[in-house]
Amino acid sequence: RDPAESSGARPRLAPGLWESDEPGEGSFPTIPPFRYSETLHFTHVGQPVINFMFNAFHAESKKPLHRECGFIRLQPGTNRVAFIIAQNSGIVEIEEGELTGRQLTLQTHALARTSFAREPHVQQISRHFQLRADGRLEQTVSMATGDQPLMQHLHITYRRCS
Ligand code: HEM
Repeated sequence: RDPAESSGARPRLAPGLWESDEPGEGSFPTIPPFRYSETLHFTHVGQPVINFMFNAFHAESKKPLHRECGFIRLQPGTNRVAFIIAQNSGIVEIEEGELTGRQLTLQTHALARTSFAREPHVQQISRHFQLRADGRLEQTVSMATGDQPLMQHLHITYRRCS
């Protein structure tokens, strides 16, 4: 019997909800800086695949800003991780990377967009997750567009709610 189960503690792959506890910071050389909040939902159906949904809102107006959802796949027997992502902005993307301790770094492996997606077109995304010792999760997202080299777009910290 799994000791985590008998003690009532969460198994590692339990569904989870995370919320930003203070506003995240958005920036890019071509846009005014902004602050946002975000919720992360993770679920699974008993397979070694995680279903995720990230919803971001403007911190002050609460307007929905960005949404992405998809699947997280792990290569069995390795520390390789893939995110298969659909974004509301019309991008679909596969990011791949490696889990090292409590850090996960991912880079775009494949990217496609709708024929009428707004310019500038994003060319490359790089994402870094860090689970901190205090239990908070940090995400940093950088991107390169047709106009700009790879640069930070987002930084945010979440706390686990359930
Ligand atoms: C702008 C991509 C996530 C909020 C942009 C731009 C791009 C982009 C290409 C236009 C930059 C320019 O004009 O030079 C992405 C990608 C994301 C992402 C690829 C995910 C991987 C987010 C999130 C938020 C957000 C989570 C949170 C609220 C904004 C805002 C702008 C912006 C407010 C400026 C206004 C606008 O162009 O709509 N983003 N973004 N983005 N992004 Fe993101």
